[in-house]
Amino acid sequence: MLESFTFLKTPDMIFGENTAKKLPEKIKQFGTHILLITGSISFSKSKYGQEILKLLNNNGISYNTIEVGTEPAAKFINDVCKFYRHNNYASIVSIGGGSAIDTGKAISAMLTIGEPIENFLEGSENYKQHPGSKVPFIAVPTTAGTGSEATKNTVISCIGENGYKRSLRHENLVPDIAIIDPLLHLSCPPEITAASGLDAFTQLLEAYVSTQSSVLTETLSFKGLEFISNSLEKAYFDGSDHKARADMALAAYLSGICLSNAGLGTVHGFASSIGAYFEIPHGIICGSLLSVVNRKNIEYSVKNKDLTYYKYLILGKLFCNEGNKSDEYYILAFADIVDKMIEKLKMPLFNKYGLTKNDLEKIVSKTNNKNNPIALSQYDLTDILNKRI
Ligand SMILES: [Fe+2]
Repeated sequence: MLESFTFLKTPDMIFGENTAKKLPEKIKQFGTHILLITGSISFSKSKYGQEILKLLNNNGISYNTIEVGTEPAAKFINDVCKFYRHNNYASIVSIGGGSAIDTGKAISAMLTIGEPIENFLEGSENYKQHPGSKVPFIAVPTTAGTGSEATKNTVISCIGENGYKRSLRHENLVPDIAIIDPLLHLSCPPEITAASGLDAFTQLLEAYVSTQSSVLTETLSFKGLEFISNSLEKAYFDGSDHKARADMALAAYLSGICLSNAGLGTVHGFASSIGAYFEIPHGIICGSLLSVVNRKNIEYSVKNKDLTYYKYLILGKLFCNEGNKSDEYYILAFADIVDKMIEKLKMPLFNKYGLTKNDLEKIVSKTNNKNNPIALSQYDLTDILNKRI
């Protein structure tokens, strides 16, 4: 008997090579004056950036541009909204990685509201629910990672001793339109392909084994994990591999849908606590911790022989190319395969970013297991983080 579940709305989505050419047509659904958020200063010089700007110009679309290089901070969003409040944009369009999409989503949500974004961030002192009003938002990802093009939240960072990573969340904040064109991913450099791809991998895996998973999220996350198994390393070692880029682009999108509906696990618990103190890219935190958290979950599931054990068995068979082995062989092989992948994709230890053993206690005390299938203890969390310093 199937258990009951809910499933949130998803964007009006277009997938496939050359679909970015449909951007002007999609923008015109709302009007012709837009705020364009791009991922880096190289956008206007890149081949695809120039082509997209030409398309906008040829179709009579006027735009102001904001370039972002880091995950969005509250002050930045507040300043942009104050400056552009009276420009009456028909839509906000983000073309870039997770930071550009999260920034665009936050601006679209705050542009019509004359208050600081801090008031609407979960966990804030004066928190109030965002009303869901917004300027229409179109997401065009150029990396395969956060899946923000499919989610209802945007993560706002404040880094430092009293830092935080908090979500602005409302069902209406799901992008109105997502255009997933794998051709835009071809020029993504290997180190970003690795970090963002491992973020998508983590999101799919955490959603698959989540305590909040449903038959629908398990089906979608399993398909996404199949794409990861087939194509993450290929996309890293040969960025021009069109099939691998397409698989990864869709895997990232699926990861966004799955995390919105099934939640995440301990790796993302660490991403919030570590990310509040240290300026480490989100994908690097997830990629670096994925193998150690995964192995700890597997150790417990082998002891418990519960539902999680069978989920790991299915994943072991998906990722491992050998036949006629024991259940436990497949499960442990999955842990080994993830370990090797982290090594091949050169995920760094955190000491590279200044994190030391002295930071263990404060980070672990603020780390939440979220919907991890195993409620890992403070001792376990300390052991996990210690292995990646
Ligand atoms: Fe993530």
